[in-house]
Amino acid sequence: MSAQSFGCDFGTSSIKIYSKESDTIYCEKNMVAIEEKKGMIAYGNEAFDMHEKAPANIEVLYPMSFGTVASITYMQQFLRAFLEERTKGSLKGAEFIVALPTDVQDRVFTTLIHGTGIKTKNVELIDKPVAAGLGLGLDVTQAQGVMLVDVGADTTEISILSLGGTVTSKLIKNGGNKIDEAISSAIRREYGYFIGNKTAEFLKNELGYQPGDTTTRREICGRNMALGLPALLEITADFVANAIAEQLKSIVDAIKMILERTPPELGVDIIRNGIFLTGGVANLKGLDGLIADATNIKVNLVEKPEECVARGLERVIKEKEFRSLTFITKEQDYK
Ligand SMILES: Nc1ncnc2c1ncn2[C@@H]1O[C@H](COP(=O)(O)OP(=O)(O)OP(=O)(O)O)[C@@H](O)[C@H]1O
Ligand SMILES: [Mg+2]
Repeated sequence: MSAQSFGCDFGTSSIKIYSKESDTIYCEKNMVAIEEKKGMIAYGNEAFDMHEKAPANIEVLYPMSFGTVASITYMQQFLRAFLEERTKGSLKGAEFIVALPTDVQDRVFTTLIHGTGIKTKNVELIDKPVAAGLGLGLDVTQAQGVMLVDVGADTTEISILSLGGTVTSKLIKNGGNKIDEAISSAIRREYGYFIGNKTAEFLKNELGYQPGDTTTRREICGRNMALGLPALLEITADFVANAIAEQLKSIVDAIKMILERTPPELGVDIIRNGIFLTGGVANLKGLDGLIADATNIKVNLVEKPEECVARGLERVIKEKEFRSLTFITKEQDYK
């Protein structure tokens, strides 16, 4: 087995990479900062820090969008620079296991890795929900009727697994970013304040979904649009709950739709095992209760839900019996 094995979850807002060599999951903002003429000047958390603050000649962007690659060149430059830095220049003969989101072409990631210029031993793919199931500690090759809901930044992936395979899977274009946008537009509409994306995200992460809670509040800074000046504003948890209710409802409705289509034999297992909520938005206060109330099924939460897929990739790399769950794409046969 190769000494350098990487398990990659190319998330829209953050990239998670398990490295066998250092036995660590790295999690960094999936952003690059591009300066005219110079090219990539920063990546990861450093690029994120420049976001919404950079001068006009520096563009800060996400190379991934809605679970797929938006800019292959920048994603490749990021990956290469990131891994070279982590392996202190000793990157060679590496193997890659990549989590493949529902509805995304498998060849995209194989092409991406091979195009980085990193000397690569092999690239294998695994369905992202299967990796998430492993990351939850489940033996997905045996388990029957497991429902996973991964709420990420751009996407929500709802899947039913049984015996190592995906029975049903649906990817919807809704997640943390849409929830942040809903908060920004409610504040613009109700208060006439313009706020940045990071502020909207702060309110979502701090206050979550707590309808009726007018006591918990956070102070933020926005631009008063009438005066054109920066000013402070207090926002209550109840305000945020109302602002995001519609986005959360569309996630809950999609979960219900999948449950309605689930064969009854698997439905019994799901009721018994509960729904597993993963992805960064699983941290959203009150989301588990909302899903449990709407479906009458208990919802299981885990620590660091955003790293669940990467933890599953770690198991694929370490535990031989899960290798049968991976596959390679045609592109690779030509190498
Ligand atoms: N405490 C929290 N409450 C609510 N949302 C949170 C919290 N912590 C993180 N998030 C949100 O989780 C999202 C990131 O989750 P994750 O890392 O799973 O997404 P991703 O894998 O990059 O995206 P995708 O899976 O859509 O490609 C962001 O929208 C972030 O704001
Ligand atoms: Mg994700």
